[in-house]
Amino acid sequence: MISLHNSSKYYWKNGEFLPLDTTFDLYKSESPVYEVVRYNGELFFFDDHISRLKISLAGLGAKPKTIHLPSTDEMRELFVKNNFPEGNVRIDVFPKAGTTVAYLTTFFYPPEELYRDGVKVIFQYDERKNQQIKQFQEEIKIKTAELLIKTGAFETLLVNKHGQITEGSKSNVFFIKEGKIYTAPDLMILAGVTRKKVIRIIENMGLTIIYQAIVHHEITDYEAVFLTGTSIGVLPVKAIENNNYDPKNRVVREIMKYFNQKMIQERFI
Ligand code: PDD
Repeated sequence: MISLHNSSKYYWKNGEFLPLDTTFDLYKSESPVYEVVRYNGELFFFDDHISRLKISLAGLGAKPKTIHLPSTDEMRELFVKNNFPEGNVRIDVFPKAGTTVAYLTTFFYPPEELYRDGVKVIFQYDERKNQQIKQFQEEIKIKTAELLIKTGAFETLLVNKHGQITEGSKSNVFFIKEGKIYTAPDLMILAGVTRKKVIRIIENMGLTIIYQAIVHHEITDYEAVFLTGTSIGVLPVKAIENNNYDPKNRVVREIMKYFNQKMIQERFI
């Protein structure tokens, strides 16, 4: 298994909880379609993740009926069984084998300073295949890891062959200019669950969203940038390569505030 949390003891496979000493390796034969869901006593946006999993499977031509998907109760039980008060569960579906596994995965929740000061990001000239499908693409992940180690950056922004910035390696990206918010159109990216919530927040704030992928040499035109994702929530960017942005931008701070409120509401549903 990949990125398994080393203090977990059990995983879930097609409806059964099994000890982790049970060997399991389908990764060599096919690349799974997957989701990562955050837990903090409650599973955040679980239904949205399962809906996206179904969209990914449909996109691959897999028949979801033959595939066993975990329930909220089973995933809660997985955290309880492993004695984890919080963390991330990764759900991997192998459509050809008809096998689904769920296991607690390694996670990194940014410390307070990164929300305060913002993070540095760099470009990665790569395109995910089938952008709208969340499928593990090892080659890109390896390149991302190498770039991040080499530069000390927090995340890479993927740039396609037309020079357009589509999304982060595992996040979505938003740009702000003169009070308007820019993000790549859904067809060009993996439409993140967090991104969807943030778009709703932006609409409720009455701000304009422009669905447009920013060209990499035009990044200096923007005042602020932020990333969204399951583990990071809404995280300000302080620099892309050598271009600096204001991590304290008022609009970014408002979006962060509303998103945190949403997470608290979800926790008590
Ligand atoms: N990644 N874009 C890509 C390519 C992603 O892999 C992810 C998520 C996102 C953000 O989606 P969400 O808001 O649903 O987390 C965007 C997960 C977390 C991962 O690979 O671990």
